[in-house]
Amino acid sequence: MSLLEVTDLRVAFPTSDGVVQAVRGLTFTIAPGRTLAIVGESGSGKTVSTQAILGLTPGADISGTALFDGVDLLRLDRDQLRRIRGAEISVVFQDPLTSLHPLYKVGRQIEELIRVHRPETSKAEARRRAVELLGLVGIPRPERRADDYPHQFSGGMRQRAMIAMALALNPKLIVADEPTTALDATVQAQILELIARVQAEFGIALVLITHDLGVVAGMADEVMVMYAGLVVERSDRRTLYYRPHHPYTKGLLESIPGSSGDRGGRLRPIPGSPPSLIAIPSGCAFHPRCPYAMPVCAAERPPLAPVTGSGGHASACWLPHEAVGLGAAAEALRLRAKEA
Ligand SMILES: Nc1ncnc2c1ncn2[C@@H]1O[C@H](COP(=O)(O)OP(=O)(O)O)[C@@H](O)[C@H]1O
Ligand code: SF4
Ligand SMILES: [Mg+2]
Repeated sequence: MSLLEVTDLRVAFPTSDGVVQAVRGLTFTIAPGRTLAIVGESGSGKTVSTQAILGLTPGADISGTALFDGVDLLRLDRDQLRRIRGAEISVVFQDPLTSLHPLYKVGRQIEELIRVHRPETSKAEARRRAVELLGLVGIPRPERRADDYPHQFSGGMRQRAMIAMALALNPKLIVADEPTTALDATVQAQILELIARVQAEFGIALVLITHDLGVVAGMADEVMVMYAGLVVERSDRRTLYYRPHHPYTKGLLESIPGSSGDRGGRLRPIPGSPPSLIAIPSGCAFHPRCPYAMPVCAAERPPLAPVTGSGGHASACWLPHEAVGLGAAAEALRLRAKEA
């Protein structure tokens, strides 16, 4: 049984320059306790697709369904959504300062969150819980640090505090949107480890959004690669790393440090940049950047179709649907996944 079941989600923003088609028909499910990674370059619609589900894209035209525990989130009013958001589904953003209020003590913010959603909780009980949560996420001397303001925390500590806040109401699902992008590599690894630990400990489902496939190497059960508002490839993590099908996924893999694209510290990024979502290329939106593009690619959009021989693996590409190896890049990632 799925916890979240999204079907044909479409999100568009009417603007003075034209309609931004941010999400163009997204379908996915996530089961309780599992991790789904959504990966793609900046501007591919990752953030909008989850924000729309949570009612955080004012002004957008949204269609589709998003069943959470059987309830369609896209049909709820603002108050109903607000009750679910933060309590049953919580979000961890890249920049904790967008979620932590600069003028309130960190502990106090967690207490308030608890008391807003659970008014029956006493002040003392909320305080006890806030301190406990700060300790749980690895804040040293939490009973003292609870009285600090966000600016007194380092970037990594603030992200820990955000995770504490995300856990405060025992959510079933956490959406972590580029949770470590602003952090240096060591802290990044610690925060990912923390997220994985609390997720396993409390059986929480996780949607992990990142532009960096390397980040999900050790964590995701399933990976969904997005490009220009669509899923271009989807599979379990191992298949995606060992036998990617879509040229865009291969490009992302080769631009990870330590992959075959990493020659003496110089990465091989995908040439060009993602398209404007106001004027999306015809057919396969990746065709202007794809080294394998054929005439059919510009003419017709390839459907997301199963890749032969791999359960659950699907790719939206006109190349033959047999699994293709990726040599050294897959090997580098295999080693990484092992270390993680
Ligand atoms: N409120 C908005 N109005 C207009 N366009 C938007 C708005 N929010 C996001 N977009 C556009 O939607 C597209 C997808 O954005 P986003 O989901 O943030 O990408 P990602 O998270 O993959 O980097 C981008 O082109 C972005 O500029
Ligand atoms: S459909 Fe064509 S352009 Fe698109 S990724 Fe496949 S080969 Fe490249
Ligand atoms: Mg984003």
